[in-house]
Amino acid sequence: MNDNLKFYGADVSELIRDYGTPLYIVSEDYIRERCAEIRKSFTEKYPNTRAVYASKAFQTLDMCKIINSEGLGFDVVSGGELYAAIKAGVNPENIIFHGNSKTVWELEEAASAKVGTIVVDNMSELELLNEVAGREGIKQKILLRITPGVDSHTHRYISTGQLDSKFGFSADEALDTAVEKALQYENIDLYGVHFHVGSQLLENDSHIMAVEIILEMLGKLKEKYGFIARELNCGGGFGVHYAGDPERLPISIFVDKIMELIDQFYEKSGDERPTVIIEPGRWMISEAGITAYEVGSVKTNATGRIYVGVDGGMSDNPRVALYEAKYEVVAVEKYGEECTEKVTIAGKCCESGDILAWDVMLPPLERGDHIVLLCTGAYNFVMACNYNKMPRPAVVTVSDGVPRLSVRRQTYDDMLIGEI
Ligand code: LLP
Repeated sequence: MNDNLKFYGADVSELIRDYGTPLYIVSEDYIRERCAEIRKSFTEKYPNTRAVYASKAFQTLDMCKIINSEGLGFDVVSGGELYAAIKAGVNPENIIFHGNSKTVWELEEAASAKVGTIVVDNMSELELLNEVAGREGIKQKILLRITPGVDSHTHRYISTGQLDSKFGFSADEALDTAVEKALQYENIDLYGVHFHVGSQLLENDSHIMAVEIILEMLGKLKEKYGFIARELNCGGGFGVHYAGDPERLPISIFVDKIMELIDQFYEKSGDERPTVIIEPGRWMISEAGITAYEVGSVKTNATGRIYVGVDGGMSDNPRVALYEAKYEVVAVEKYGEECTEKVTIAGKCCESGDILAWDVMLPPLERGDHIVLLCTGAYNFVMACNYNKMPRPAVVTVSDGVPRLSVRRQTYDDMLIGEI
């Protein structure tokens, strides 16, 4: 008899029995530990700093409430994320609105909700926002998003700071024009700049390089326009531990070096240092989540590869198909038994690319057994879709060993809502 697989004090078999599979399981304790680390190593260590959670990584009303209670702000990237954050009780003042192609109505929604900051991505958005803010009778606080031109070591689909990026202004004449205009516009309050180099970074070199570039650029903007930034937002991107990766780095590895560079720069210039902001998403939530599946089939094909088919797949976790992500897999009932079989975990969507994990070692499995994928808290639930009319799994949050349902499983009828 093995010990039951536990996740932050909860018995995984019991969660599966009570809530079914596929099932997203999230640890509130883990999330609160990460918030505490951010306070200790960043916001309380360095004066005049702020941390906002990148809600795109995992947004439920429950998650918004946890983050809100920890005093972090929110980064949102669409009208929908803004709506949900406000619905969860987040003060709009603590929200930063992002996006490379915001619609007029999103800008109107943001301005009328009195969102604290809008990160402006391009020139036409700047012009439009000036008009929208004018109609609302407000002076909108903004940051300009800069593409620092740093190629980060990550999958190219989640690298954002390189020169050929769809995000932001490149640090050349385009940015100069934007600064000049933003300073002139009546309804715009240019507070500073933002950059985000990429996601799932396991070294701090890209952040360091980007900060060096941005500081130099801020020096030039001061010379040219007398512009002194009051906020410098360094984005997110801090990596976590997936299969084959090194352990998650403490946040200090990223922020200490950034703060050193920024402090040195402002000591030298004599100007007041801007408020420094970070926007972690994955680092806050990924390791807080696992996904449980039931095995539906086990078979060996002509090449000798053993496929273990499960009751979920790319519809609840598209990251393997999209970025060749690698997950650690653990057996639930057979947890602790010797892992003697090399198997490939296949999803049940009608696609050959619908694989959740290639060549992982597990105990021999059969129909009805359960497995979990680790580190699925970030960019799984939020990227889930109804391909093959697969209902989105439920989300259960475990707090101090006690589970609660945060999002119920979709029904077939839920998937037909809106169809006429
Ligand atoms: N701030 C901005 C402006 C961002 O664009 C992002 C992520 C973040 C913060 C948070 O980055 P994080 O700390 O989570 O790395 N779906 C992809 C990840 C896309 C990230 C997009 N932007 C994935 O599953 O890997």
